[in-house]
Amino acid sequence: MPLTITPIDPERADFAARATGLDIAKGVSADIAADIEAAMDRYAVLVFPGQNINDEQQYAFSTHFGPMETATGDIAQRGDRRLSMDINDISNLDKNGEVLARDDRRRLFGLGNMLWHSDSSFKPTPAKYSLLSARFVPAEGGNTEFADMRAAWDALDPAIQQECMGLVAEHSQLYSRGMLGFDDFTDEQRKMWEPVPQRLMRRHPGSGRLSLFLASHAGAIRGWPIPEARMFLRDLTEHATQRQFVYAHRWRQHDLVMWDNRAVMHRARRYDHTKRRDLHRTTVADSAPTLEQPI
Ligand code: OGA
Ligand code: MN
Repeated sequence: MPLTITPIDPERADFAARATGLDIAKGVSADIAADIEAAMDRYAVLVFPGQNINDEQQYAFSTHFGPMETATGDIAQRGDRRLSMDINDISNLDKNGEVLARDDRRRLFGLGNMLWHSDSSFKPTPAKYSLLSARFVPAEGGNTEFADMRAAWDALDPAIQQECMGLVAEHSQLYSRGMLGFDDFTDEQRKMWEPVPQRLMRRHPGSGRLSLFLASHAGAIRGWPIPEARMFLRDLTEHATQRQFVYAHRWRQHDLVMWDNRAVMHRARRYDHTKRRDLHRTTVADSAPTLEQPI
């Protein structure tokens, strides 16, 4: 069966599509990978239902799209990790497969995923694609939402667009977790997650479209007083996450969802924390820090 791409919402022909006709476990050709990348340029979020894959198959598929990130944004100590450093553990499980206690530090850190963000915007070179595979999902809750930052840019007041144009924000996990009152970091983590600069507005190299580059990791704007910067970032985020820009994905086991962090923000939604939720993420790095990319 050929690769078939269908927009999820016919009213929104350039955001979020379903991709069928592939068996990712078997591997894909370079031609198919190029077709997928072209679809990503257009839709920014692709849902591949019914992909029963393991970590090796997920990783092999992901490598078609660029250099791979390692999971250095996680808080789990190496000895505590359930998965290899090639995989971001997006679950509420410990290495024995038990659900984490309500007050477990790893769980509380992971709650940061419920804030709107773009993956690895706190790294000097942020993420290009994230690929999230649902190995086990709770019966209710735990959706992932995606906000189209290109549409949000297009709908911004022209005066605000003008204001955003040259601005550089500073991103750190210390800011996003700090928002939730989580500040239980080691000196090593504080050092590793020092703020990094990212453009506030960027141009997508595949589609040519402009977008807002926001994340809850952004906690400062270069040259601005902090409260004014945070208030502006908060206003922009409020604008960009209005329902007309959002696709809410309701997970089914074996869905693989791939998104372009250069074009969307995302967040997790609540679910019963005593229930198991197990998703595995591979992450493709972008080509350079945003300040080194042409706009
Ligand atoms: C991620 C993420 C959201 C979720 O995998 O990067 O933010 O719904 N996940 O688990
Ligand atoms: Mn994320």
